[in-house]
Amino acid sequence: MSEASSPAPRATAIVLAAGAGTRMKSSLSKVLQPLLGRPMAAFTVGAARDAGMDAVVVVHHQEDQVRAALAGPGLRFARQERLIGTGDAVASALPELPQDGVVVVLYGDCPLILADTLRGLLDAHGADRAATVVTARAPDPTGYGRLVRDANGAPLRVVEERECTPTERAIDEVNVGLYAFNLAWLRQELPRLRPHDHKGEIYLTDLIEAASTQGSLGVLLHQDIDEMMGVNDRWSLGRARRLLQDRTLMRLALAGVTFENPESTVVEAGVEIGADCTVEAGVVLRGSTRIEAGVTIGAHSLIIDSEIGPGTDIQPYSMLDGARVGAGASIGPYARLRPDADIHDGAKIGNFVEIKKSVVEAGAKVPHLSYVGDARVGAGANVGAGTITCNYDGFGKHRTDIGAGAFIGSNSALVAPVSIGAGAIIAAGSTITEDVPEQALGLARGRQTIREGWAARFRKLKQARKDRT
Ligand code: UD1
Ligand code: CA
Repeated sequence: MSEASSPAPRATAIVLAAGAGTRMKSSLSKVLQPLLGRPMAAFTVGAARDAGMDAVVVVHHQEDQVRAALAGPGLRFARQERLIGTGDAVASALPELPQDGVVVVLYGDCPLILADTLRGLLDAHGADRAATVVTARAPDPTGYGRLVRDANGAPLRVVEERECTPTERAIDEVNVGLYAFNLAWLRQELPRLRPHDHKGEIYLTDLIEAASTQGSLGVLLHQDIDEMMGVNDRWSLGRARRLLQDRTLMRLALAGVTFENPESTVVEAGVEIGADCTVEAGVVLRGSTRIEAGVTIGAHSLIIDSEIGPGTDIQPYSMLDGARVGAGASIGPYARLRPDADIHDGAKIGNFVEIKKSVVEAGAKVPHLSYVGDARVGAGANVGAGTITCNYDGFGKHRTDIGAGAFIGSNSALVAPVSIGAGAIIAAGSTITEDVPEQALGLARGRQTIREGWAARFRKLKQARKDRT
């Protein structure tokens, strides 16, 4: 559903994103609540864009927040000064729109709407009709406006739930909040709407009755109520999240990704995963993460804004944030790659290893219990268990450079700034404070002494004292 594949519909769109969203009980505007890593209204705006609208106008109230969250090519913004209803919100957008033509109105709290549906609406609406409203049959119509029809089934008007008679309340055909209008007609009719008792609000839905009275109303009954769900509180936000998540996982699964346990997997909207990848249970993939083909992501791993090359194995319980990993590498279990960890092809980062702002070159190994920060680990080098790069002196950060093929013995402390030459060996347990040349041995620990029989004598002495008391 790219813009390029859709014929330009010569229509514009308005996305209403100004409402207070009281039912969400949040200091953050309802339409900016996060869904799979994006603000909710970004989905609605995205559908309008993908449908190839000439312009998309977002009606906002919290201007800075909405602009910052949604800004993108072809977007315009209009401010609704007072939040007095959907009719007033649409009126606020009119100065940004052409005099005539067709405009589609969407609510920013309907994040599941698809671009195809918008194209279908434009087709059904045609060029001359005053208004077309999209409806759906809802198993539970609570919270929606109802479409009232006459005895012959002709549509008359939309009644908000709070104004329904008991008979109207039982109607299961609801207004989903998606419309096409003739712009000239809209400009003429909007000023005629009158406020309702409820908070003095001006209802866009009153235009349905106006169009019907003038014999120029179309109704498009949509088959999928889920696609049309409006998010008003955090419970429905959760439901929208599940539906969107299912959609994302299904798209990826059909493109060749195995999800071992889709119910426990979170994959945000901006994540890309290649074919023949396996995502185990409990994995969370966020932000701009890109995973190439043939990668396994082990159970309960969390990956944020990271890139992973083909055939790499991320073992369970690993956490990557802002990291790059090449091809055929092995990470984890229990590895932590922090921002600017750059792990090259075939490298191995093992359990309980933390890497920050460091390059680990091809084939190098940091297999156990290490901290590597502000460092380069040269190709093929081996960093023994428990090695620490001491990169921070309480004031500034300093670099450690480990040459290709070097061998760092277990439990070494490399006090930065320091460099270990290519092929050098560091004796286990060393605290290295000076540069070690290529192919040299760096040894910095207490010399071992042996006292034959000492342990036996020691125990005998202790036992004798104990027996006396
Ligand atoms: C609205 C419809 C209802 C429909 C339902 C579908 C009206 C009067 N009612 O009810 O018939 O069944 O959507 O989901 O339109 N907004 C503004 N400015 C305002 C008020 C609202 O921009 O002054 C925006 C909100 O941010 C929201 C959208 O308009 O994105 C809808 O407002 P909301 O209050 O959620 O309307 P509903 O009560 O859901
Ligand atoms: Ca709503």
